[in-house]
Amino acid sequence: MTTSPDATGRVREHFRRKAFSFDHLYDEEHALQRLLRPGLFNRRELALSVALDHDRPSVLDVGGGSGRIGELILEQGASRYVDVDLSDTMLDLARERLARFDEKVELVQGDFLTTPVDGPFDVVLALGYFDYIEDAAAHLRRMRELCGGSAVASFPRWTWTKGPIRKLRYEVINNCPIFDYTEDGLRALLADAGFAGAELHTGKSGFLAVARATT
Ligand SMILES: C[S@@+](CC[C@H](N)C(=O)[O-])C[C@H]1O[C@@H](n2cnc3c(N)ncnc32)[C@H](O)[C@@H]1O
Repeated sequence: MTTSPDATGRVREHFRRKAFSFDHLYDEEHALQRLLRPGLFNRRELALSVALDHDRPSVLDVGGGSGRIGELILEQGASRYVDVDLSDTMLDLARERLARFDEKVELVQGDFLTTPVDGPFDVVLALGYFDYIEDAAAHLRRMRELCGGSAVASFPRWTWTKGPIRKLRYEVINNCPIFDYTEDGLRALLADAGFAGAELHTGKSGFLAVARATT
């Protein structure tokens, strides 16, 4: 399968329009927001703890958006943080947020699959990313090529409580394609990409995968 330029264009446009409202979700980090969106905060905490297993890691954040996770990781001593994202407005927010970390930060606008990135990295993240990716196999292979240590990625799964509303909200109202994963399908995708033995954590709305690159 290949990603159609039209699908990528629709995702880019969606995150150009929604950058501020997505970024703002992190500001409402009170008990209610945590209850409503446990996935957002759980995946950020897992990514941070995996990054902390490495000493001054170099980190690639695939679809890193407004740099919310990058900020925490840089505060904890990362030596390099690269955010590759389709959306210029998301990257504008990241630029402002991460300005104090100077030359440790690289913000690159483009489609991760086709944008040149100078790796490898100790940690590769893709959080809230695979929701929008038509050809997950190709994106996982590219992540594996650039990963010299650990990878953390989130993948949504279909549930009858949230699935129909999510489809309506994204695909019908916002014209943005979204995708779901099954546990068996995801294990096969990870293994085919070279992430054998990945740990999968299953939550209410999806999976969190932690993989170690072995040579
Ligand atoms: C839901 S946001 C998540 C942002 C960040 N990872 C976080 O968890 O806070 C998804 C991001 O993926 C980006 N994205 C989607 N498809 C992409 C692609 N093919 N290449 C690069 N970025 C992409 C979007 O522009 C958006 O900023």
